[in-house]
Amino acid sequence: MKDNTHNKGKFIVLEGIDGSGKSTQIQYLTEKLMQHGILCYPTMEPTDSPIGSLIHQIMIGRIKTDNKVIAALFVADRLDHLLNDVNGIVPKIQEGVTIVSDRYYFSSFAYHSIDMPMEWVIQANQQCMEILKPTVSIFIDVEPDVAIGRIAKNRFHQELFEKKSRLIKVREKYLEAFEKLKESEHVVIINGNRDTKAIADDIWEEVKKYFEIK
Ligand code: ADP
Ligand code: TYD
Repeated sequence: MKDNTHNKGKFIVLEGIDGSGKSTQIQYLTEKLMQHGILCYPTMEPTDSPIGSLIHQIMIGRIKTDNKVIAALFVADRLDHLLNDVNGIVPKIQEGVTIVSDRYYFSSFAYHSIDMPMEWVIQANQQCMEILKPTVSIFIDVEPDVAIGRIAKNRFHQELFEKKSRLIKVREKYLEAFEKLKESEHVVIINGNRDTKAIADDIWEEVKKYFEIK
């Protein structure tokens, strides 16, 4: 299944640096979809599966391993996210459910290509790209300073990825990946340095195109 245009459920992915407001926007978006009678399922990567829990342990520094192993674990988590028969994305989409995911493979392209070549990361995700491409990847583009300000307000300790210099690089890598894959992926960039409602309105304008909604 290379493209899900002919399936009933759509696959909407929100991407962005840490603190860009993805989870906030996913709440708005799923509410709005449900108001319009669209069956939808919010989800996220890393997942809460055993593989996702292992990733979390690595991210908080409890387990140490090589960056290649981390990138490969994210691929394993993603394949499980797609294929597992309890709550996998692919079976749900086939049943007509629209999936709204906080992160998918563009997160890997952005975060892991800081330490290794982007081409390696893309190759490692090849199976996922063949199994399911997003209907659209929506990038909430936020200045790293703004994102850090939002994170600092709400968290007592910063995890591995939430340092400003890293977020600057992650944002650049996202933009590089979008450019590199512009022929085969549908990406929409939204200005995320605004209030929640303005961002939610722009996301809705984009998403409603994929449904029969006026
Ligand atoms: P992410 O899921 O991308 O890490 P969150 O949705 O958790 O981001 O948002 C990070 C923090 O910023 C939260 O405390 C959230 O309430 C706040 N926030 C989200 N969107 C905005 C916005 N547009 N303006 C100001 N604060 C925001
Ligand atoms: P999380 O606490 O879920 O952050 P957020 O709410 O910002 O999504 O942590 C997810 C972290 O994992 C985030 O820093 C990005 C990183 N990540 C990767 O490094 N590779 C990936 O493939 C994915 C999906 C996430």
